Amino acid sequence: MKEVRVGICGLGTVGGGTFQVLARNASLIAGRLGCNIRVARVATRTPKDEFDLTGIPFSQDVFDVANDPDVDILVELIGGYETAKELVMTAIRNGKHVVTANKALIAVHGNEIFAAAEEKGVIVAYEAGVAGGIPVIKAVREGLSANRIDVIAGIINGTGNYILTEMRAGREFEEVLREAQALGYAEADPTFDVEGIDAAHKLTILASAGFGVPLQFEHAYTEGISRITPYDITHAELLGYRIKHLGIARRRDNGIELRVHPTLVPKSHSIAQVDGVLNAILVDGDAVGQTMYSGPGAGDEATGSAVIADIVDVARSVACGSSQRVPYLGFNPDAMENLGVLPMEDIQSAYYLRIQALDRPGVLAKVASVLSEHGINIESIMQKESEVTDGRIPVIILTHTVQERQINRAIEDLEALTDIEDKVVRIRAENFH
Ligand code: HSE
Repeated sequence: MKEVRVGICGLGTVGGGTFQVLARNASLIAGRLGCNIRVARVATRTPKDEFDLTGIPFSQDVFDVANDPDVDILVELIGGYETAKELVMTAIRNGKHVVTANKALIAVHGNEIFAAAEEKGVIVAYEAGVAGGIPVIKAVREGLSANRIDVIAGIINGTGNYILTEMRAGREFEEVLREAQALGYAEADPTFDVEGIDAAHKLTILASAGFGVPLQFEHAYTEGISRITPYDITHAELLGYRIKHLGIARRRDNGIELRVHPTLVPKSHSIAQVDGVLNAILVDGDAVGQTMYSGPGAGDEATGSAVIADIVDVARSVACGSSQRVPYLGFNPDAMENLGVLPMEDIQSAYYLRIQALDRPGVLAKVASVLSEHGINIESIMQKESEVTDGRIPVIILTHTVQERQINRAIEDLEALTDIEDKVVRIRAENFH
């Protein structure tokens, strides 16, 4: 039986998971592929005893893999931007195909990497970079290729979802984050998870693959979960909503919305039911309607599953003799539209507002009047006498969908009222109608 030779760079969480699944399911995978996958070289800075590398050439320098003539596919699992980029570009220059789980690399340098790969006639595959084990890039690029896709939205960071889920049960942010790190879910720098950078990387890639637009990570709006309080979680629940950290990409006539932020989602919506490290991505196509993909968004073997699926795809397309190719972003380059990212002021959303008001007559009327002056319709309002402290009371308001510009101006006017103290807390809400 023919074989395809892979070189694995990085034997951390994802590298380890990939190595283990490749070994365990070798014959099953070969059966699907029609040729064997042989690990021809492994490079990692810190070798671990738990992996049996007997007979596999090993080095601590990942560039040895990029320069090894015995390697057909370089599997980049070291993460980060700069070394990873140099490694991938070296592999491409040497005529190797690349499989990567590095969403930061693709979101930031993807346009350049794909151009280099195109020129050299090699493939760069990145399924494992988006939503861990869920084959959502395959779904968007191939399974939904008949559709015009207008919305892609969902939970695309497992660590953040794990933290929000546990906080709902009353646990502390810091403690849960440490647990997520120990479980191998978090990025090397966990601020990427909690501040939404990781999700913005993934959303950038999803939007490009779904809408056929260039990668534009630098224009993505990114807001994390570090300021979400147990109070807001509880009060959103009382209103019938759950706070989820969502990536939302929406195609509009004059641009795309590309934003990551905490979002209220109706508790009855299936996205609200997705807890823990699970991810869920909703993709709305004009022919198929709304589809949703959910599953483990992080973890060693779950992400390894997507890495291996890409190895199989690449091997099937080129290394094992067939010649099927899928364009990098699902569209042929000359069919891509040059749509830019809209400013946040132009997005449309519903809003949860928490206003710290003085507990005196007429305050609610003033709040309602400011909102009405800005054309903002109130869906629910909640204020509980039991929450009065020092003559101040939180007023929680849920609005109908409006433009972010309207809510910004209304918040400015609300904060200028003498009856309102502190900054108004605003969390965007989405009903997915
Ligand atoms: N840190 C990422 C997450 C890993 O928590 O989703 C998977 O990309």
